[in-house]
Amino acid sequence: MNKDIQSIVLTEEQIKEKVAQAAAWLDERFAGKNPLFISVLKGSVMFFCDLVRAMQTPVQMDFMTVSSYGSGSESTGMPKIVMDLAAPVKDRDIVLVEDIVDSGHTLLRMRDLITGRGASSFTTVALFDKPARRQVDIKADFACFEIGDEFIVGYGLDYAQQYRTLPYVGILKREIYEK
Ligand code: IMP
Ligand code: MG
Repeated sequence: MNKDIQSIVLTEEQIKEKVAQAAAWLDERFAGKNPLFISVLKGSVMFFCDLVRAMQTPVQMDFMTVSSYGSGSESTGMPKIVMDLAAPVKDRDIVLVEDIVDSGHTLLRMRDLITGRGASSFTTVALFDKPARRQVDIKADFACFEIGDEFIVGYGLDYAQQYRTLPYVGILKREIYEK
């Protein structure tokens, strides 16, 4: 285990099992349709790639980079679109894939943006939900895991751009971000 990790929250096996459940949930809703799946970069990238490969339904993919943190561990409350989508979303069934819904500001911003551009439906899947930290009234349609007020890293999730490539999800030691 990485020396900065206090404990493991999800093993690779546990992630895989839940990803299969999320994929089945999506297959049920989107079979026979042509949904556009959007990965909110960079945190959701590992989850996104595993999720679309676990599905039976063929989907199209697009990417958007949203930054809410600067380099700290608290959301700024004003998510910034760093890189926009390549494809139009008008009249498309959109599935937004997020890593964590924390304060909810990012998801709210994305929902307003995408529905404002005329998407015909908007569905959100998140790897983690942190309900205790919510500042705005929004939730993912499918959240794989609920977690309390802990700062986690790995499987795409970072602290100051580090730890994304760990294959598991772990709680980061407080001394790392409270220095
Ligand atoms: P929100 O706008 O506050 O909901 O923030 C959402 C974003 O903050 C997520 O997409 C993550 O990228 C990031 N985030 C929130 N909590 C954590 C965490 O525990 N570890 C790593 N990133 C996090
Ligand atoms: Mg994110």
